[in-house]
Amino acid sequence: MQDRDRGVAQRVVVIGAGGQARDTKWLLEELGHEVVGFVVTDASRLGPHDSPVLGDYAWLDAHREAFDGLALGIGTPKWRLKVAGELSERLPEKAWPSLVHPRVELDRSSMRIGRGVMIGAGCVGSVNLVFEDFCLVNLGVTLGHESVFGRGSVVNHNAAIAGGVVLEEGVLVGSGAAVLQYLRVGEGSTVGAGAVVTKDVPAGETWVGVPAQRLR
Ligand SMILES: CC(C)(COP(=O)(O)OP(=O)(O)OC[C@H]1O[C@@H](n2cnc3c(N)ncnc32)[C@H](O)[C@@H]1OP(=O)(O)O)[C@@H](O)C(=O)NCCC(=O)NCCS
Repeated sequence: MQDRDRGVAQRVVVIGAGGQARDTKWLLEELGHEVVGFVVTDASRLGPHDSPVLGDYAWLDAHREAFDGLALGIGTPKWRLKVAGELSERLPEKAWPSLVHPRVELDRSSMRIGRGVMIGAGCVGSVNLVFEDFCLVNLGVTLGHESVFGRGSVVNHNAAIAGGVVLEEGVLVGSGAAVLQYLRVGEGSTVGAGAVVTKDVPAGETWVGVPAQRLR
C-alpha cells in the first residue's frame, strides 16, 4: 500500500449508488474524509434504490481536480475487481484509501492491509490477518487468526471466518455463513447466506446449506 492510500483525510468519490455505496459514504465520513458524491459506470441505468449521482466515468475525467481518492461502493466481487482495474488504469494518480471503521476490534499491528480495503463497524478479529487489495468485510463479521481475505473478496454481515481460513480472489461469503478453521474457498466461488462450510470449496463453485454442499 502506498502512503496516499493510508487513510489521510481526503476528498473521495464513491463508485456505486446503491446500499453498499451509502454504507461506504458513512464509513468515509466516520473516518474524516470528505465525500464528493457517487459516480456509476452507467448513469442511464440507475435503479429504484439508487441515490442521485454526479455522473459516470466521464464526470471523473472532467473533474480530476475535484477529488483525491476513490472508494468502491460495490458489493459484488466480480464488479469490485472490474471497476478497480478500469479506474486504476484510467486515473493512476488517485488514491484508494483503506477504510477500517473505528469500532473494529483486531490486532492492527500484525495485520497486512492493501489498498481500497473496507472493514465495516462491529467486526471482531485477532492476529495476523491479511486483507488483500479491494476486499470488503461487511458489518459484524468475526475474523479468526491468520485468515486471508483475497483480492476483491466480499464477506457479508455477521459471517464467521475461522482461524487460518483462506478466501481466494473474488470469493463471496453470504450473510451469516460460517467457514470452519483452516479451510480454503477457491477463486471466484460463492458461499450462500447461512451456510456452514466444512470442506474446502473448489474454485468457481457455489455452495449452500448446513453442512454446505455444491449448488452448482
Ligand atoms: C447462494 C446464492 C448466491 C444463490 O443465488 P442464486 O444463484 O440467485 O440462487 P437461486 O435464488 O436461484 O436459488 C437456487 C436454489 O438454491 C437455494 N438457495 C439459494 N440460496 C440459498 C442459501 N443461502 N441457502 C440455502 N439454499 C439456498 C434456493 O432455495 C434454490 O433452491 P430450489 O432450486 O430448490 O428452489 C444466494 O442465494 C446467496 O445466498 N447470496 C448471498 C446473499 C447475501 O449475503 N446477501 C446479503 C447482502 S448484504
